Amino acid sequence: MNVLVTGATGFVGSHVVDALLEKGHTVRYIARSTSNLRWLEGKDVTRVDGSLFDVASLRHAVDGVDIIIHVAGLTAARNEEEFRRGNFEATRNLLDAVRSYNPGLGRFVHVSSLAVVGPSASVQQPVTETSPLRPITAYGRTKKLAEDAVREAADIPSTIIRPPAVYGPRDEAILTFFQTVNRGLATYIGFGDKSVSLVHVRDLARGIVMAAFHENAVGQTYFISSDEFYTWPQIATLTGAVMGKRRLLSLRLPHAAVLGIAGVVGSLGKIMGKPPVLDFEKGRDLIQPYWICSTQKAREEIGYRQEISLHEGISETVEWYRSRRWL
Ligand SMILES: NC(=O)c1ccc[n+]([C@@H]2O[C@H](COP(=O)([O-])OP(=O)(O)OC[C@H]3O[C@@H](n4cnc5c(N)ncnc54)[C@H](OP(=O)(O)O)[C@@H]3O)[C@@H](O)[C@H]2O)c1
Repeated sequence: MNVLVTGATGFVGSHVVDALLEKGHTVRYIARSTSNLRWLEGKDVTRVDGSLFDVASLRHAVDGVDIIIHVAGLTAARNEEEFRRGNFEATRNLLDAVRSYNPGLGRFVHVSSLAVVGPSASVQQPVTETSPLRPITAYGRTKKLAEDAVREAADIPSTIIRPPAVYGPRDEAILTFFQTVNRGLATYIGFGDKSVSLVHVRDLARGIVMAAFHENAVGQTYFISSDEFYTWPQIATLTGAVMGKRRLLSLRLPHAAVLGIAGVVGSLGKIMGKPPVLDFEKGRDLIQPYWICSTQKAREEIGYRQEISLHEGISETVEWYRSRRWL
């Protein structure tokens, strides 16, 4: 099959490309003049120059493909308007291009986020695909707008995938956590143990591709995630053990301190005009006790299973970071 992958130059998208190539599909991707092609080097993929805001390039990108996997999105931005443009308007432009230039498209797979639903109320109640959508950040709100646009495009057969936090080789967002543990430090937020769903990027890429080709998945939404939930002390202890650290020094930051630091860092980011690594909303996101989702629907309807255990995934990620001298 001919597949267009947006966001192919990024962390998740580059692994989706790998999963498609492994299955023998033909892959096309969109790259901007500023895109870093490091994860696609040497791969048999076709580049279309352009962006999700360049209608002429979108015409070339969507023309003749059987499936589109829309991974591109903004995970960091200076303000809500920038998030809205990168997540919602970009998705709307791509859907418009499909309607105009490839109305017979077989499937539009949209990569969304657990952030669209928001946190869970308790560890016994992971969110499911029927949970109400209550995003608590600009990122989550604008990813929800993008999902709404996909759902409203009833003329295009679509599938929505909502990953939780993603880790694995090539990731730079959770890298800071690994670097901190590598220094012998485990930093926790608050005094109660928080639970998270965490998916290895290759499990996610495999789940996205499974959904893209599964006929049951048309018009459906799935969480593609770990089957289990993890606490941060569990993740940090395991990471430390994999790194050969005998003991980690634990530091617990009270929620008020996290929100205070986040507010200051966010304001500095605004002054500097850069997407801040932390701001008040991200602080609120971090203090939530349960970011957990159920994989039951994906298991039952498309046969998805978590294949990479936390131990295997962390070991491989540490090894990869070390091989790149990122640790
Ligand atoms: N990473 C996670 O933990 C996580 C969790 C849940 C959901 N997600 C979702 O997964 C997707 C990918 O995330 P990621 O972590 O892989 O992010 P990433 O590494 O920052 O990659 C983002 C990709 O989107 C592309 N892109 C952004 N705006 C574009 C535009 N206007 N035109 C063309 N391409 C554009 C980027 O291209 P350039 O190379 O040109 O910048 C890059 O290839 C996002 O939709 C995100 O919301 C990620």
